[in-house]
Amino acid sequence: MKGIVLAGGLGTRLHPLTKITNKHLLPVYDKPMIYYPIQTLVNAGIDDIMLVTGGNKAGDFLQLLGNGSQFGLRHLNYTYQEREGGIAEAVGLCENFVGISRMVIILGDNIIEKGIKSAVEAFGKQERGARILLKRVKNPREYGIAEIEDSRIVRIVEKPKEPKSDLAVIGVYMYDNRVFELVKGLSLSARGDLEITDVNNLYLEREELTYSILEGHWADAGESIDALLETNVFVKEHGVNKESR
Ligand code: DAU
Repeated sequence: MKGIVLAGGLGTRLHPLTKITNKHLLPVYDKPMIYYPIQTLVNAGIDDIMLVTGGNKAGDFLQLLGNGSQFGLRHLNYTYQEREGGIAEAVGLCENFVGISRMVIILGDNIIEKGIKSAVEAFGKQERGARILLKRVKNPREYGIAEIEDSRIVRIVEKPKEPKSDLAVIGVYMYDNRVFELVKGLSLSARGDLEITDVNNLYLEREELTYSILEGHWADAGESIDALLETNVFVKEHGVNKESR
């Protein structure tokens, strides 16, 4: 299983903190934000990892992370997203890296208290398709939201104005390598992005999308300045990445 960490994008919601640096290099308590998603993948048993970054501070990731020895890795792969074209576009850059394998993608600003190992294992047992992770949230307008009927996802809506549920699709996506064909067929959304929610809905149409409910705390630290502050406090008080399930 391959791992992908997405750390491109402009991070405009965190201006001016992100005017001269990449959002994922900002501190979350005692470590740069990007450490947390990498550790989440490593704790789930994934050690072949690609980091996608972009913008004018991309070189800082090499200096900070090198070959990932601080995570017990022997090597880290890097690629560069030329423009902020959306999460799905960033995933598309990893086609050669993934090859015939499958992948677990994690967004570089997602901080997960416990772990994703059991979900990754469940995905490993799936014959094909995709698996996502859901978590109840208080502010569903800010996320991709899954509508569930009879324990099945019927629809995912990106940042709905009138949310029909409070189950957010967190930034961990598990796909087989057919995702690259799906990404090539996507059209730009109203905000000019290739949307990961469209990819998930394509798997859903094929009845190949499963889900797990995430246990423990989850934060999208890049969602707002307040989310970043709250995540810093949470990590100080509770710690994260202690349990690997
Ligand atoms: O955090 C979970 C949410 O993440 C999901 O519920 C949403 O469905 C999903 O669209 C996403 O929403 P955000 O508005 O939080 O996405 P954002 O633009 O902040 O990008 C999230 C991460 O993806 C960010 O840390 C960097 C990476 N990224 C983003 C874009 C737009 C890239 O690597 N390249 C990009 O072009």
